[in-house]
Amino acid sequence: MRTPNPFHIPTHRQPTPKLKIAVVGAGYWGPNLARNLQASPDWDLVAICDLDIERATRLAATLGDIPVVESLDELLDTFDVDAVAIATPARTHHGTVMTALRAGKHVLVEKPLADSRAHGLEMVAEAEANGLVLMADHTYCYTPAVLKMQELVQAGSLGEILFVDSTRINLGLVQPDVDVFWDLAPHDLAILDFVLPGGLNPTEVSAFGADPLGTGRACVGHLNFRLPNDATAHVHVNWLSPTKIRQMVIGGSLRTLVWDDLNPQQRLSVYDRGVSLDRQAKSAGERKTSAVSYRLGDTWSPALPEREALGQVVEELAYCIHNKREARTGGASGLRVLSVLEAVTRSLSTDGQSSPVEGHALAGAGLAGTRLAGAGVQLKGVQLEGAL
Ligand SMILES: NC(=O)c1ccc[n+]([C@@H]2O[C@H](COP(=O)([O-])OP(=O)(O)OC[C@H]3O[C@@H](n4cnc5c(N)ncnc54)[C@H](O)[C@@H]3O)[C@@H](O)[C@H]2O)c1
Repeated sequence: MRTPNPFHIPTHRQPTPKLKIAVVGAGYWGPNLARNLQASPDWDLVAICDLDIERATRLAATLGDIPVVESLDELLDTFDVDAVAIATPARTHHGTVMTALRAGKHVLVEKPLADSRAHGLEMVAEAEANGLVLMADHTYCYTPAVLKMQELVQAGSLGEILFVDSTRINLGLVQPDVDVFWDLAPHDLAILDFVLPGGLNPTEVSAFGADPLGTGRACVGHLNFRLPNDATAHVHVNWLSPTKIRQMVIGGSLRTLVWDDLNPQQRLSVYDRGVSLDRQAKSAGERKTSAVSYRLGDTWSPALPEREALGQVVEELAYCIHNKREARTGGASGLRVLSVLEAVTRSLSTDGQSSPVEGHALAGAGLAGTRLAGAGVQLKGVQLEGAL
């Protein structure tokens, strides 16, 4: 049942020459990228760029003598970089990423990949056409806990998936350009894309949002979609909760997995508990009256290494560039997330009615096609519709 992980990076690999990179965006998240790039044996961090030059300077000062610039154009004119890492607000991703790709640079861009699916499609097509790596920083897909979840699910340890319930709530910053779904749900959706067999592939989505403080965008949100075999997924995102919860439950026919990211002693718990139904029942009527039994087995917690996910993110970027392979959270995976987010936005405008997810033919591409074929790159399994 275990499928080989196409994103495996060999532990003992040959040293490769350092690649040059610059960070664009020195606000809240950019410094985390910069710190990990500077600590990485794969990267030479050569510049920091921010429209707010004082911010760039403050960040550069924490990292040593790193030059700063105040625009992406100046960065590209001044420095000979292999790649750029973009940590600017979502609405700017399309413009900055397209500029970098057109200049022949590989790109790591923050989540969400773009502010619309059409923009995301353009970015993926541009990267493909130029043989460049485009990778979304779906950070959680690089945490030891999510890697273990993927391993357990893909190995069939949970059995058939029956439900997913994900909660990501806290007192969050109300973002100026995106609602709570576009800000927080990319994490949950990217994790599901990575973990679930077949990836993120719903045909339709239904979403409810609320803006009880009148901020102009949904600050509380619930989204639902079906998984294969009548299973269901629910994601709750919320900027207004004074309590912080980061929890995902994946219920299976054999076992149930609970990920509590805020419990470092026991981030993952596997429950050998569940409900069984007499599978011999032939009709729905018979099933209704068939006996339900409960399995009350052990609970165990897999040992997980403690390491910073962004260290793995920057390693993955370098490995993909050197080996011309699609990233675990490459453009195709970023697009599947955007497709669901757009369906969420449409569903919100109809007060929660189901909305079809466009382009779900992209599903599974992340696992099916993992090799970039050099210049004139081909991402197998990725269909870039004529809607570009
Ligand atoms: N992966 C994660 O877990 C994670 C966590 C937080 C934020 N993020 C993402 O990081 C991105 C940035 O978020 P943030 O909270 O750091 O935002 P922020 O507003 O704190 O910082 C953004 C910075 O980008 C600069 N900037 C904007 N446009 C620019 C441009 N064209 N060129 C150069 N600099 C420009 C701004 O001056 C600002 O300093 C967002 O996409 C967000 O979703 C990811």
